Amino acid sequence: MTIPVLGNDLTEVIEADRAHLWHHLIQHKPFETIDPRVMVEGKGMRVWDAKGVERIDAVSGGVWTVNVGYGRETIAKAVYEQLVKMNYFANSAGSIPGSLFAKRLIEKMPGMSRVYYTNSGSEANEKAFKMIRQIAHKKYGGKKYKILYRDRDYHGGTLATMSAGGQDERVMQYGPLAPGFVRVPHCMEYRRHQQDGAPVENYGEWAADQIEKVILAEGPDTVGGLCLEPVTAGGGVITPPEGYWQRVQEICKKYDILLHIDEVVCGVGRTGTWFGYQHYGIKPDFVTMAKGVASGYAAIACCVTTEAVFEMFKDNPDDPLGYFRDISTFGGCTAGPAAALENMRIIEDEGLLANTVAMGERTVNNLRALMEKHRVIGDVRGKGLFCGAELVADRQTKEPVSEKQVAAVVGECFAQGVIIGSSNRSVPGLNNVLCLSPALIATADDIDAITGAIDKALTKVFG
Ligand SMILES: Cc1ncc(COP(=O)(O)O)c(C=O)c1O
Repeated sequence: MTIPVLGNDLTEVIEADRAHLWHHLIQHKPFETIDPRVMVEGKGMRVWDAKGVERIDAVSGGVWTVNVGYGRETIAKAVYEQLVKMNYFANSAGSIPGSLFAKRLIEKMPGMSRVYYTNSGSEANEKAFKMIRQIAHKKYGGKKYKILYRDRDYHGGTLATMSAGGQDERVMQYGPLAPGFVRVPHCMEYRRHQQDGAPVENYGEWAADQIEKVILAEGPDTVGGLCLEPVTAGGGVITPPEGYWQRVQEICKKYDILLHIDEVVCGVGRTGTWFGYQHYGIKPDFVTMAKGVASGYAAIACCVTTEAVFEMFKDNPDDPLGYFRDISTFGGCTAGPAAALENMRIIEDEGLLANTVAMGERTVNNLRALMEKHRVIGDVRGKGLFCGAELVADRQTKEPVSEKQVAAVVGECFAQGVIIGSSNRSVPGLNNVLCLSPALIATADDIDAITGAIDKALTKVFG
């Protein structure tokens, strides 16, 4: 079968979609009367749908993934060459791209040492959870098994990662969930008024101290890990307050708790450094990553850890259960690391980290300028090319606008040829944040076009 391309009649594709595809995270009833969206081609920052309509993609493939942009022939070529040479062998054996990418990755992560390949962000997080649980058995007779996660953070769609899910709308109706996961409060400065006793001064330290309170209530000897996003993504683009991370690190050290940073979104350049945690000078024990690792050119995710953690799992023939008894079939695919190597080269050679910082600042400045005109923008947050604008009906009370209004803004942008995102099925009543995460190649003109579309959309929806 030849693959239809842009300009061909795509009726068969759309009919097959309507008849047989179960899309992710959307309602299907509307497809009884409208066509499902089918993406056909992409180049740079732009995508074309089945009707041939061109749009700027301000969300890198919908979910913050295509960091180096569409249509990268050198990545496709690297993957092709690797696949015809050696496509797969279980990762109990190594591979050329697997080893080389691990080396390149660790060069970007001082203090880290070992890369465990998996095929999705959820799975990478589960590997870290399993390692933390096994360490609890190795070192603490199984007692230090609890894993803390934060309100509004997201770590995946599997049962264990949902059990560590701080976005209730992603979790409701899927219980019972796995035991041993405990929630800690969020650190969102803009909504500190909803947290009892939150101070204006030193909010960051206070927010971190709320984690310590949970640890003390649970019993420090029962808590083995703390899993956090460096910048909360789908929960509302929440940048951490001043002083937060340093205090978090102190707390983890104090109670011998392993710090697991979920970089599934922030990893590999999105925030303007290779990893989000690197803004805050902290030393994690686990770092998980997925989306931008190969920009969606091949499936790859990694659970990266330190030599100290790895040492605990070194095979001891006297203890047949002592090593990490885990496998991920597609963690052995070679296409992922082959694509990831070329993806990393592109980010370096094209200076995309510096561009991310500059274009991120432009995005935030443009959005802040819009605040003067549109009172509905209550807050603007961002780190690199990962930015959010929170929409509120009243700046004083910070009452969120309705989801319908947020959807109308996203829809208006779409109609103007710009794809933006919004927090979606996250925290009940708080799906009110517009999300922007353009590819790291975005130019000033692209950014201005994106924020210009938002300006017009806000006028249309809110006047
Ligand atoms: C912060 C974070 N962690 C984990 C995941 C899960 O990744 P995946 O969908 O690849 O399983 C996501 C997905 O959006 C995410 O945003």
